[in-house]
Amino acid sequence: MNDFDRARHGAQLIARAQALGRHSDSPAHYTRTFLTPAHQAAAKQLAEWMLEAGMEVRRDPVGNVIGRYEASGPGARTLLIGSHFDSVRNGGKYDGVLGILVGIACAAELNARGERLPVAIEVVGFSDEEGARFQTSFLASKSLVGRREADVLERRDADGVSFADAMRAAGLDPERLGEASVDLASLAGYVEVHIEQGPVLLDAGAPLGVVTTIAGGARHRVTVRGEAGHAGTVPMPRRRDALAAACEMVLALEKRCSAGGSLVGTVGILQVRDGTGNVIPGEVEFTCDIRAGEDDVRLAAERDVFAAFEAIAARRGVSLSRVELTRNVRAVPCSPRLREGLAASVARVLGSPAKELASGAGHDAMVLADVTEVGMLFVRCGAGGVSHNPAETVTAEDAALATQALLDFLRSFSSGSVRR
Ligand code: GLV
Ligand code: MN
Ligand code: MN
Repeated sequence: MNDFDRARHGAQLIARAQALGRHSDSPAHYTRTFLTPAHQAAAKQLAEWMLEAGMEVRRDPVGNVIGRYEASGPGARTLLIGSHFDSVRNGGKYDGVLGILVGIACAAELNARGERLPVAIEVVGFSDEEGARFQTSFLASKSLVGRREADVLERRDADGVSFADAMRAAGLDPERLGEASVDLASLAGYVEVHIEQGPVLLDAGAPLGVVTTIAGGARHRVTVRGEAGHAGTVPMPRRRDALAAACEMVLALEKRCSAGGSLVGTVGILQVRDGTGNVIPGEVEFTCDIRAGEDDVRLAAERDVFAAFEAIAARRGVSLSRVELTRNVRAVPCSPRLREGLAASVARVLGSPAKELASGAGHDAMVLADVTEVGMLFVRCGAGGVSHNPAETVTAEDAALATQALLDFLRSFSSGSVRR
């Protein structure tokens, strides 16, 4: 471990994240959504780096890129290391990508030394986690483990392209979506490295942290219908303005979710149908995302929020139709065994006890937790801890430390036990 070249790894990780970030749907900013040309180019680049790192590479039915680094002997179980390579619109270049690159760097380091472990390693680049194009939720990790969202093939993106057609155009068979692409019976666990996307590690002066629990969340799509009318002629008391009602709902959500603790609520999309400057909004659609580390806290908030929405709608004479669930995931605790193993590796690399923290963001690990033990390693986020924002950043030094800690963990890990 002493001859691990942190400077070289750090520089390469940052250079690769930046290079991958150039594969963007937009020339103006970094946006990479499911199966666009930029997304497919990024997948190709990841596959090349995996090959260079001595892995066998395959593309699965949902476009996940999977690199396998074989174990020292036959019959070994498989440890998955993964994260996603899609992004939110105008996002940061490390969200998701960093975890894949760290996994590849570990395989490359082992390969360069001719070192094999008792467990096989599969590094997975998940093709769709953010779900920005088709409003999906953990689509790619669900497919990897054999699950498919019910109505997904018929969904359309903002340009009217159907999900099934997007798959065909990218050379994928929609009928195979949800076909498991790893051998579930042989899984030894799943580890995800991710930028923290918050300020906890930054404030604590800690480069790395081990995740205890991943907050659960649910997202709804809410449609408010009032009555469109002439902006110049309808007197204020006679209006049924769908946008004014929606605005009151947004504030009700904010108020209910500001009670403290891990509870948070966000309206990330709000659209006025046929919005025109001289028309009273007749219909508004918005998303409502509520999350918390404790499911009972979240579910209670959700009940209160929707009761408040109903009351606002009744008072304003608008209807609140079609409340549609697009995401509902329970909070997921990380496996104590993987937590301990990751904490021991972080402590060995940093020379001080590992900081533990909860994740407020959702991750593919939540889906993998249905089929195997999961663990997560967080890397300090710079720029005040901002993420889902182009200002998101990590240092080369911290990225290299994450690689060194993951490598130490892999060497300590065998399918049956984790060295203390
Ligand atoms: C993913 O970034 C999420 O938490 O929504
Ligand atoms: Mn994200
Ligand atoms: Mn992410």
